[in-house]
Amino acid sequence: MAQKLDAIAMLKADHRKVEDLFEKFESARDKPRKKALVLEICTELCVHATIEEEIFYPVCKGEIKEEELLDEAYVEHDSAKVLISELLRSGPDSEFYDAKVKVLSEMIKHHVKEEEAPGKGLFAQARAAGVDLAAVGEQLAGRKAELLAEFNGGDLPPPETRSFTGHELVQGHPVGSPA
Ligand SMILES: [Fe+2]
Ligand SMILES: [Fe+2]
Repeated sequence: MAQKLDAIAMLKADHRKVEDLFEKFESARDKPRKKALVLEICTELCVHATIEEEIFYPVCKGEIKEEELLDEAYVEHDSAKVLISELLRSGPDSEFYDAKVKVLSEMIKHHVKEEEAPGKGLFAQARAAGVDLAAVGEQLAGRKAELLAEFNGGDLPPPETRSFTGHELVQGHPVGSPA
């Protein structure tokens, strides 16, 4: 049986895993491999975002010093979901595919930094506020296992946003193409 991790250790382990997958994508050359890696990245990110949004962030609310960090986190998650959704509905042959993966990785890097920043990040503030990290870790692990089982092998459902209200976007002509 795997050792039980507290909430922060577990969320940090997820961050490292996805960073590693983004690195693998950077060196991947063949298209099936790229597609498989993107599916893995999107699955990891969707599961991670869901457990933070359903469990970790609500636990932090009312406890941490800078609550606006939570609002920003929801908006950052939703921004990432737009790219995740784009990637899930396209493939390595699509224009801008690699660029979308790259920009997604940069957005996640920024977001992870805000969660992990020593002393002032969301995680540090949760620890300082005395959140029961062992108990929350168990809840996170339970929900994560459930979601992974749900997504296993199947299509990922469209990511659910929490702060974005679903305003429509209209695709214009790609820059440089005849109108
Ligand atoms: Fe996170
Ligand atoms: Fe997050």
